[in-house]
Amino acid sequence: MTGSPRKRVAVLISGRGSNMMALVNASRAADYPAEIALVISNKLDAAGLAWAREQNLQTAAIDHKAFPSRESFDAAIDAALVAAQIDYVAQAGFMRIQTAGFVEKWAGRQINIHPSLLPLFKGLHPQRQALEAGVRVSGASVHFVTPELDSGPIIAQGVVPVVAGDTEDRLAERILAIEHRIYPAALALVVEGKAKLVGGRVSLEAPVNQRQTLVSPGGERVC
Ligand code: GRF
Repeated sequence: MTGSPRKRVAVLISGRGSNMMALVNASRAADYPAEIALVISNKLDAAGLAWAREQNLQTAAIDHKAFPSRESFDAAIDAALVAAQIDYVAQAGFMRIQTAGFVEKWAGRQINIHPSLLPLFKGLHPQRQALEAGVRVSGASVHFVTPELDSGPIIAQGVVPVVAGDTEDRLAERILAIEHRIYPAALALVVEGKAKLVGGRVSLEAPVNQRQTLVSPGGERVC
């Protein structure tokens, strides 16, 4: 391979792992700038962990319940990342709050995806929150991880309409499809140094299509 060596990325999961799969699949392209060098799950029975093993990826199952404190659990995660010479960390449905020490250590090198247009609808059940709020569009956000949950500087977002009669599951499914598109794209920007955490904001060197818009409901006059 020519050019710079691919960055080594670890993905942290707790469940199904469909975003992890999207990252793995993207990384199979020869020109993708990152490889998924480690998948860590805090749930021993996570479906995503089984899939990663089937793909012969390097995996680690680190059960948070086996540790007396958040600090000791985070220390075990950090040790696994260091041992695998990981450059960047991508959380993908990882359901643990991390200690400030861990977050600080990986600042600018750890990202997360959340199924809402942040800063709206942080925390649990963001799709339900969106439906309850009556918004006409929702989506997903990829952001750098900072100590406050779902509050880090935003790298990329994708927008989907909220459709009449949507249930939480239907909206989640529509959002998930856009998650699988924006997460690999955002990770590539980060590992290439095109999206950087600078002074608490994201400095971005990437083209933005200024003419592309989503209006919902659409089809009628938009003046
Ligand atoms: C995704 O909606 C992600 O945005 C959120 O948790 C869900 C995880 O899904 N943080 P999966 O495990 O990646 O399929």
